[in-house]
Amino acid sequence: VSAISFNAKTAAESESPALIRRVTVTARRLVVEWRDGEESALPFLWLRDSCLCPFCRDPRNGQRLVDAIDLPIEPVPRRLDLSVSDEIGVEWLPDGHLSRYTAAWLAAYDLTDSARARRRGRVRLWGWEIVDELPRVEWSEVTLDAAAEWRALSLFKEFGFVLFAGVPTESGMVTRVGDHFGHVRVTNYGRHFDVVSLPNPDNLAYTEAALAAHTDNPYRDPAPGVQLLHCLEADAPGGDSILVDGFRLAEEMRRADPAGFELLTRLALSFRFANATADLAARAPVIALDCEGQLVAVHFNSRSADAPDMPAEAVESWYAAYRRFANLLRAPEGELRLRLDPGDLLMMSNARVLHGRTAFDASLGRRHLQGCYIDIDGVLSRLRLLSREAGG
Ligand SMILES: [Fe+2]
Ligand SMILES: [Zn+2]
Repeated sequence: VSAISFNAKTAAESESPALIRRVTVTARRLVVEWRDGEESALPFLWLRDSCLCPFCRDPRNGQRLVDAIDLPIEPVPRRLDLSVSDEIGVEWLPDGHLSRYTAAWLAAYDLTDSARARRRGRVRLWGWEIVDELPRVEWSEVTLDAAAEWRALSLFKEFGFVLFAGVPTESGMVTRVGDHFGHVRVTNYGRHFDVVSLPNPDNLAYTEAALAAHTDNPYRDPAPGVQLLHCLEADAPGGDSILVDGFRLAEEMRRADPAGFELLTRLALSFRFANATADLAARAPVIALDCEGQLVAVHFNSRSADAPDMPAEAVESWYAAYRRFANLLRAPEGELRLRLDPGDLLMMSNARVLHGRTAFDASLGRRHLQGCYIDIDGVLSRLRLLSREAGG
């Protein structure tokens, strides 16, 4: 009905109902006008490369069969087919290839700033004030109900951590939870590690001392993505947990001291851990950004920081920036204090959330946590699978 020939040099228009209101062809873009008035201007090259037809994508697995370098350099629509509501069919020049794009696909992969922000997901920066509305889910619900698990992982993504309550207090349970969401990463500490006070500790974690908020193991490459900490016993006075949102600190730093922020992103620190059987070293900046300037990770661990290895002329200004960041870190309004009860299990992004504890007295009671690491890709994969089940 509405198969219309287009001259790519002149804009042509066609009305269609539903989500897609109008499609316009300009010199190099297919412009989709949505029902809500928003517009998406999609480059021909990108559309042609994203074709979902069985010649371009294997229908059995969705994988690509064509490499972008083998496509026409300047594909241009010869005809549009708008006869099916909320679908755009394109016949391409110069090779006559036929592509179809659904409104749902176009909306999901749209290139507008708002669509791209939506894909990154909602991140909620937090401080002590969330103490009464913790991202907390009963473990028994997670094991019975996919919707509860989806909610838990959505909270994890938004806050950078989630607290599971009522996880059976059995030794090794933390690795079963870890393997449920991903694959436990074995390190020189084993598949899991016991956080208890030891007589001859090779790590300050295994003492009664207070631990300032930190990220774990920045001396590994890559650093662990997700840490799970399971409370088995909590009789000792003290030993409260402290969580800090590293992304909130970093954004505060970016606003308050742009030059200092830049130094913390540009100069790497050396981190190291050495005992009788391991000598681990890695370099990472305090604040890591991706190529678009978005926060990727915070690395903060004064216990395992080696002597900074950086150009001498940068040292003083770097220390000033570091001090400023560390002072933000110590501000009480950023500290979320929790008392973990037996059965509580914290799952946190080790790239975003810093954790610490107050001192405790092991002569008056036991404090026993077990921890393990998993990679974050497993957690996000699980979240996508659950979203798929939910039809989202
Ligand atoms: Fe730690
Ligand atoms: Zn195709």
